[in-house]
Amino acid sequence: MADSTWQDLESHRDQHAHESISDLFLSDPGRAQRYRTQLGPLLLDYSKNRVNDTTLDLLGRLASASRIAEARDAMYRGEPINNTEQRPALHTLLRTPGDQVPPQVSGESNEVQKARAQIRRIAQQINHRSWLGATDQPVTDVVHIGIGGSYLGPRMIDEALSFRRESPIRVHYVANVDGHHLDDALASLSPSTTLIIVVSKSFSTMETRLNAESARRWLLTKIPQEQLNKHQIAITSNVDAAEQFGISADNILPMWDWVGGRYSLWSAVGLAIAISNGPDAFDELLSGAHQMDQHFASAAWPHNIPMMLAMLGVWYHNFLDADTCAVLSYDHRLRLLPAHLQQLDMESNGKRVTRDGSPVSASTGPIIWGGEGTNGQHAFHQLIHQGTRLIPVDFILPLKPDHSLPEHHHQLVASCLSQSQALMQGQPAEQIEADERVIAHKVMPGNRPSNTIMIDSLTPKTLGMLVALYEHKVFCQAMVWGINPFDQWGVELCKAIGTEIYSHLVDDTPLNSADPSTRSLIEHFRNVHNGQ
Ligand code: F6P
Repeated sequence: MADSTWQDLESHRDQHAHESISDLFLSDPGRAQRYRTQLGPLLLDYSKNRVNDTTLDLLGRLASASRIAEARDAMYRGEPINNTEQRPALHTLLRTPGDQVPPQVSGESNEVQKARAQIRRIAQQINHRSWLGATDQPVTDVVHIGIGGSYLGPRMIDEALSFRRESPIRVHYVANVDGHHLDDALASLSPSTTLIIVVSKSFSTMETRLNAESARRWLLTKIPQEQLNKHQIAITSNVDAAEQFGISADNILPMWDWVGGRYSLWSAVGLAIAISNGPDAFDELLSGAHQMDQHFASAAWPHNIPMMLAMLGVWYHNFLDADTCAVLSYDHRLRLLPAHLQQLDMESNGKRVTRDGSPVSASTGPIIWGGEGTNGQHAFHQLIHQGTRLIPVDFILPLKPDHSLPEHHHQLVASCLSQSQALMQGQPAEQIEADERVIAHKVMPGNRPSNTIMIDSLTPKTLGMLVALYEHKVFCQAMVWGINPFDQWGVELCKAIGTEIYSHLVDDTPLNSADPSTRSLIEHFRNVHNGQ
């Protein structure tokens, strides 16, 4: 961080340490109107943050010094910004309309358009009941098998949109290698009317391979081998491995090495979304994401929503020592959003060296966690209100519900707004009427920051905008920290160790790398397993 802005931000923090967010509102009531940006149906209110105009100027300077705009343009043009794997990161291309594609990536775009046509065709066929299984019965159930980015995004989107679903097809998701997951999913299904979609960019992920093999065995209980193709589709960039597995080329949809798993729901990885919600809804999802891409590409600071979210996150993480950041969805349908954002953010920015391999000079990658409001209010919000940690919160609130219980929705909205107000204002001792001995316990310090993201209503389009917003936020922060958000080498080591322990458990292959603790745990497993 060669630029002096970093030091300027530190001095600014020290000078203004005594000012609370409530003080900032007293001296500048207009900030409620100024500290917000609207993009169509999405509004970001960032007025309840520990920032004033000077802070924002400095954060804007830090964003420029980090060359976020240049890196963004290079990403959109398909330059190999994933430098450790020498690949572009072209998830934005997956949602770019054909006539707006940057010329540098027109070849990739042609493939994307072809895949989109395949997605539409398959989704329509299944929905029109013309995808027939081996016994000429139409498919009624689809099982999506994948993990990590090949699971969290599609599952979250599907869950979020399930309220508007018209499709007669039931879609099930299986990720965990724990056999309970697959067993449970297949329990009520019949192989004759089930289509398995195996989603794996590498087609080598242990969990997905094993689930796919077990699902195939289950299919074979009713389906002859030569008809299996009517019941299996693969989404992968490893076509050879999928073919060796027994899925024919016609039933393999592409993934490309230029799309990271956690950014892939916009590709054929989202086929299940298109099946259960219809291909038009899938297109709308992409168009919402594209609207956010355009906004990210063109809006200037401080009106650039992803950049603002990112720089506020940097402010809290690097200057005010906030280790974590909570995403609280005030909508039951968005209950899986925190888990998707957790992978997106933590797998991208959990890095300790910069792009050139030298140690980072600042802390990276806050812990992302969260849950569903109002449930969290009766569970973990206590720690956000009165614990010793500073935990910035993003409240996400769709404004128009899709149910017919208005009083529920008004309570939900009131709950969300009361949380952010209480976090900011707190409760000083003078306002508390209680026994002397408990006053200290009831004091709430306040000055706890939050963003509120309101969307007019939850639709495929607004959902696309929301998810793309966070993708770009993560990207901006990576640029500030100088790291590559598009690789994930850290997850590889456990895969190798897992393979060794597995061989030991099933074949007694000698363990080379295991430590004494792991050896004794393996022994305990063996004793219990063998009933000793
Ligand atoms: O183990 C991490 C990871 O590589 C993720 O990045 C990825 O989304 C997931 O595994 C699944 O990988 P694949 O799609 O290759 O099965």
